[in-house]
Amino acid sequence: MIRLAPADTPVTLDRRIQGQFAEHLGRCIYEGIWVGRDSEIANKNGIRTDVVQALRHIQVPLVRWPGGCFADEYHWLKGVGPERQPMVNTHWGGVVEPNEFGTHEYFDLVNQLDAEAYICGNVGSGTVAEMHDWVEYMTLDSTAPMAELRKHHGREQPWKLEWFGVGNESWGCGGNMLPLHYANLYRQYQTYVRQYGPERVARIACGPNAEDYEWTEVLMARAGGHMDGLSLHYYTLPTTDWSAKGVATGFDEYGWYETLRQTRRMDELVTAHSRIMDRHDPHKRVALVIDEWGTWYDVEEGTNPGFLYQQNTQRDAMVAAINLNIFHRHADRVRMTNIAQMVNVLQSMILTDGASMITTPTYHVFDLYRDHQDAEYVPTPSGALGPDGELTVSRKGDDWTISAANTSLGRELPAEFELPRGVGELLRAQLLGSDAPDSHNTFDQPDAVSLTDLAVRVDGGRVSFTLPPHAVATVRVRLG
Ligand code: AHR
Repeated sequence: MIRLAPADTPVTLDRRIQGQFAEHLGRCIYEGIWVGRDSEIANKNGIRTDVVQALRHIQVPLVRWPGGCFADEYHWLKGVGPERQPMVNTHWGGVVEPNEFGTHEYFDLVNQLDAEAYICGNVGSGTVAEMHDWVEYMTLDSTAPMAELRKHHGREQPWKLEWFGVGNESWGCGGNMLPLHYANLYRQYQTYVRQYGPERVARIACGPNAEDYEWTEVLMARAGGHMDGLSLHYYTLPTTDWSAKGVATGFDEYGWYETLRQTRRMDELVTAHSRIMDRHDPHKRVALVIDEWGTWYDVEEGTNPGFLYQQNTQRDAMVAAINLNIFHRHADRVRMTNIAQMVNVLQSMILTDGASMITTPTYHVFDLYRDHQDAEYVPTPSGALGPDGELTVSRKGDDWTISAANTSLGRELPAEFELPRGVGELLRAQLLGSDAPDSHNTFDQPDAVSLTDLAVRVDGGRVSFTLPPHAVATVRVRLG
């Protein structure tokens, strides 16, 4: 029995922990989000309606764009106005990027989603002037040249830009820099991310790759005072071998448990990077922003290797739940994350095939977890549900949400909780179970893995239920 009580020092689970990432990569933007105004696929201003509707349901809080590696090759001026200038997307398949989806279309997307904007600027191959002009174009309300250009392109009012990333993976695809070199560039570039509107544009510095602790140390020591967030990238590879990462479907028991073990490394990374940040920023002003995470497998057979298209199974659902639980445990420092990527790439919410669209098991976990957005974290003892159990509990006043997962492939997991008062109403009890660990949705069977009702016993303040093997569930109650 797990006794639940509010924390002595409450921490909020920032809704941005459930952020998304949309990159110009494969079929993420083109087909996945953007079909164009003349498409036969239902759309609003060229953005597909089915995808927006599905994403609104899981309350996407913000979308990072345009990359990724793509961001450090992106020259925003080519993607505004009536004459778009195509470019080659060298990182992702060498295809021609038409630049049809640019700044105006991105802000339309976040507005349709009712989400915040998080734009990643080009440090690797862009100039300070280019970044400065972009921020002016987006956010300045005056007669200055870039604001005038925006108006000329049909947008009178500036947009609200909440977050700006100064480069992506500057230690790798974003310029192969050493930490001190990037720290200097960061200080310089962020100076020109001006505040023109009533609200600050929060600046996010490129952070480390996985366990590169030197990067965090140098960035925090040399540039920590100039940033609002430091990013961290860590992907789950079943094999840890980039040349043979492992399959998305058809894996064995070892493939299940090893993938979950690799995912749990996120806890170790967040803990160790946070410790360094704590030394430089004891009041936790700077957020740790995990703006790329998720599973990364070998691409689906017969697909373009540069498009990184992969299926998504119940194992991905479990990876999502484990990561979200880790982020919640560190919510005093982790205040934004962005799973890669929203549609048709790595651990996606949504897959499309022309006009057809399906949601993935990962999507359903985000659905199960949406009640935790901006809720108060309720601490539970580590390992409270035993070695197979995974847990997040939060509350919004008298509404308490329990999300629990059973990582075991063979055993059921009983879960029993005692709340501070008697339960007045059961608001939600849903289960994401599956026939097999690699069950997944296809265009022929779009609901093979979907949410079903969960049987819950309520007795006064006691709430109990049993999780089948490899399942995730959410129970939400209102205290009487
Ligand atoms: O998500 C795919 C790529 O992974 C991103 O473009 C890059 O930032 C990372 O290496």
